[in-house]
Amino acid sequence: MVNTEKFIIKSIAEIKTAAGDDKVVMALSGGVDSSVCAALAARAIGDNLIPIYIDTGLMRKGETERIRTLFSHIHLQIVDAGDEFLTSLKGICDPEDKRKAIGERFIRVFEREAKKQGAKCLLQGTIYPDRIESEGGIKSHHNVGGMPLHMEFTKVIEPICDLYKDEVREVAGALGLPREIQHRMPFPGPGLAVRVLGEITKEKVDIIREANWIVEDELVEKYQPWQCFAALLGLGTGVKGDNRIHGWIVAIRAVNSRDGMTADPLDIPFEHLVKIGSRITADIPRVARVVYDITAKPPATIEYE
Ligand code: XMP
Repeated sequence: MVNTEKFIIKSIAEIKTAAGDDKVVMALSGGVDSSVCAALAARAIGDNLIPIYIDTGLMRKGETERIRTLFSHIHLQIVDAGDEFLTSLKGICDPEDKRKAIGERFIRVFEREAKKQGAKCLLQGTIYPDRIESEGGIKSHHNVGGMPLHMEFTKVIEPICDLYKDEVREVAGALGLPREIQHRMPFPGPGLAVRVLGEITKEKVDIIREANWIVEDELVEKYQPWQCFAALLGLGTGVKGDNRIHGWIVAIRAVNSRDGMTADPLDIPFEHLVKIGSRITADIPRVARVVYDITAKPPATIEYE
């Protein structure tokens, strides 16, 4: 575990040195990692920091509005890039290719915004597990292995790239960030795209966004899991009304973990699982089947791709 106070002082000094007098754009998603980075960077370089939230169209229900409210006290730029991301993902089925397409699109949008602002550096909230999993060939996190080889940025600053998630949460506490941010469930940068198996379409994203909202609504407050969400697995047969349908299969995933490197499935009472299943199939007409994922990490990962 890092010494939190020492880390904060050292990190602010390092950001100051790395940025110099340059303007820096940063990806602020509203999760604990990017919020900690924003707080450190604001202390280090003040107005030279340009926080940007990119709405990828792969965000959770109500997320963009939440961010708008949460960060109404700072000058946060919100960029609507939903169509661009969908276009970049068209026809791509392989998980690694999807992550790379998303990583590249993020960078291109940031480059465009940086050019408008005269910024040369990019700051992002990569954490240690993102690096080990990308470098170890487990998967290319969108902000590490998923980044394009050629970028217009002269420098990428990653203030928390040596920290685990629980350490980031400690730093968030020491920086006085709101509890809502400090203890917010992790949400991956590629968003709902890694919760839809195979090709991304607007229809699939809309379905999983709704199912995800139901899962969070049912589980977050009651069990406070480390992470919980819904994933879209594929199509299967079902019966709705008098009709046999080819409907979507949704998986519920809920885990406890310390740092995301290992995880255990949450022990949810069976009746509650059945209730969530019924709510999902009733509220989302195109869903025919709901399953509960009982796999630990390892051998499964937490996300589906
Ligand atoms: P996995 O699926 O690798 O997830 O067991 C471990 C933790 O990392 C999050 N995750 C990501 N976060 N970009 C991110 O910002 C990514 O590409 C990414 N992939 C996984 C995941 O939500 C979990 O908390």
